[in-house]
Parts: sequence; structure tokens; C-alpha cells
Amino acid sequence: MSEALNLFELEQLAKARLPQQAFDYFSSGAWDEITLRENCEAFNRTRVHYRVLVDVSRRSTATTILGQKLSFPVLIAPTAFHKLAHPDGELAVVRAAGAAGTIMALSSLSTTLVEEVTAAATGPVWFQLYINKDRGFTRDLVARVRAAGCTALMVTVDTPEWGRRERDVRNGFHLPPGLSAINLIPANERGEYIGQHGAGMGQAFTWMLDASLTWTEIDWLAGLCELPVIVKGICRPDDAERAIQHGARAVLVSNHGGRQMDSAPATIEVLPAVAQVVAGRVPVLLDGGVRRGLDVLKAIALGASAVQVGRPVLWGLAAGGQPGVELALELLRTEFDLAMALAGCPDIASITRDLVNFK
Ligand code: FNR
Ligand code: LAC
Repeated sequence: MSEALNLFELEQLAKARLPQQAFDYFSSGAWDEITLRENCEAFNRTRVHYRVLVDVSRRSTATTILGQKLSFPVLIAPTAFHKLAHPDGELAVVRAAGAAGTIMALSSLSTTLVEEVTAAATGPVWFQLYINKDRGFTRDLVARVRAAGCTALMVTVDTPEWGRRERDVRNGFHLPPGLSAINLIPANERGEYIGQHGAGMGQAFTWMLDASLTWTEIDWLAGLCELPVIVKGICRPDDAERAIQHGARAVLVSNHGGRQMDSAPATIEVLPAVAQVVAGRVPVLLDGGVRRGLDVLKAIALGASAVQVGRPVLWGLAAGGQPGVELALELLRTEFDLAMALAGCPDIASITRDLVNFK
């Protein structure tokens, strides 16, 4: 595992270890996977206009988001079913996040109880929510994750229905016996497993979405408790503005890693316009296609306060459990630090808009 020089090589190691069905679930995107590819390709279409003769002998990658400290501006995106990647699952990931000095966003579809994850955490844990048809269920879940010690709520809004990932449909994707979306099952029913049947997310987990959601529910969620609400899945400046009007304390530019609306624009491409509208009122985060520390620098230059990574964490987890996730984060951290040096940026504040453009 430690022979992986970059995240692409780590993905190959993960692929060799994972059953086809799990690898396909983690790696796939919706329909023709145009957005899945585009998220990465758009990063490659940018150019970095580096500065020279800046003293970069002492560099700091540290930053703060929503009052929470990060050793470098890369967070762990919420991704489902970590025990499909490795038996240590979410516990391995949260420990690696703490060791790296960053934040883990825990998926609603975690295969480990939120209370166990926060108990093992040495850094902040944010909780990702899908607002359920049953608002009482969602309210109780929020109370529970707050009591467990989560420090922010990340509400995903790009999912009125599950995107159609044809690889999952073909494979009849299901969870193996013993794994479940355990946080969503009442305590007295946890012996029974959900999600084992059906062909893909579309059939197995439809019950947990609500296609009738509007901005009213964001107001409702923001008023439930004092935890900051981060709205995940924004791809348009006008939606970013609405999110702020409805109580978002941060906006996350995301297209769900190309798993929902295919042909959605690459996140890095819409980031500058979103950042312009937000104009520093709240932090703007981005995920989708970040595979190099250099991509982190590009996203910050184009207006993000930090980025999240989804699949790279899963590849590290599958390739080597907690040390594998630590390796994925360390590869990103060292690449980012080197990119800062080569761009003439001793700290995050010096990564300015003029450094990057689209060719
Ligand atoms: C996701 N994502 C996701 N998002 C979310 O809000 N809740 C979830 O449960 C999941 N689950 C999930 C599973 C898998 C296997 C993937 C690949 C993604 C989306 C995720 O948070 C993030 O937006 C993308 O993964 C970012 O893109 P990259 O870094 O994977 O390119
Ligand atoms: C996915 C869900 C769980 O993308 O968000 O598979």
C-alpha cells in the first residue's frame, strides 16, 4: 500500500482488493458518467500562474472552517457504507481524520453507529443528513447526532431521487448480510437488516428520500438547533444565494461526485461564480474530482475555503484500513504543501484568485 505514489495508484490497489460489486458502487456515476469524468478533467483544464521569488521556506497549510481548526484544507466527504471497503469501516476513517488534523463528515448511510464514531474521534465530526419523508424521524436523528457530539449538519440537497448508476443496477447492488445503514434503524430493530435487496440505491433506499423538499425545509432544519447547517449539492450562484437566505452557514459546491444529475457542470467550473455571489458571507466548500494536492490549491484560488474528498478516502480504506486513509490524506497534504511552495504561497491567505484560470 505504501508503494502508492499518488491517489491514482491507491485506487488501483483498492480495485485489486475489492469485490467487483463494491468497487463499482464506490467508483460509478450516473448514466453516462459525463460529470464523473468532467469533475477531474475540468481541474486539468486550469492553469496556475505561479509567483516567483517569494520566501516560501516556512509554510503553513493550516486553516479554520466554522471555527473548527484544520491542519490543511481537505475534509472527508460523507460517503456511505465504509464497511463495504474494510471491516474497520467508519472507525478507521474517523481515526485517520483525527490523526491528520481534519474533519470527517459522517454519512447518514454509515455502517457504524454515530455514537461509536464520535467516541473514537479525536477531531470534529460533522453529520450528513438526508431529510426523510418523516420529519419526526429527521428531528430525532438531529437530536441524536447533536447528543453524540457532532459539530455541524451537512444537508444534501441534490438527491430528490437517487441518480441511476447503471453499474449498480446491473450488479444488483446490495449490502452483504451483517451490514446496514444502522443509524437509520430504530434501536429495537437493529438485528434486522435493510438494504439487502434491490437493484441499486434506486430500489434499496428510496424510503429515506423526499422528492417534495423545498427551501422551507432548510429553514426548518436551521431552526432545529444551534448546529451550523451546511447545504451540500449547490451548483448555481442563485441557489447559493438562496441557501444563505434560508440559514446556511456554509455552502458546499458539489454534484455528488457525478452520481446524481449527469451532465451537471464540473464543480471547479462553477466555483468562481458561486464564490462571487457568496462574497465571503459564509465559507464556500467544494467536492468532486479532487485527486491531487494541486487541485486543492486550484480550488482555494478559485474561491473555496476548503475541499472534501470522497472516493480517495474509500480507496485508502479499501487498500489498507486506517493507515490507508492516513496515506491518502498524507499524499494530498504533501502535494498541496509542495504546490504552495511552487506557486509562491507561504500560507492559505496568499492563494489568491489571480493564480488560476481556465485555459
Ligand atoms: C457519496 N456521496 C455521498 N454524499 C452524501 O451526501 N451522502 C452520502 O451518503 C454519500 N455517499 C456516497 C457514496 C459514494 C460511494 C460516493 C463515491 C459518494 C457524495 C460525496 O459526499 C461527495 O460529494 C463526492 O464523493 C465527491 O466527489 P469525489 O471526491 O468522490 O470525486
Ligand atoms: C450515494 C449515496 C449514498 O451516492 O449518497 O451512493
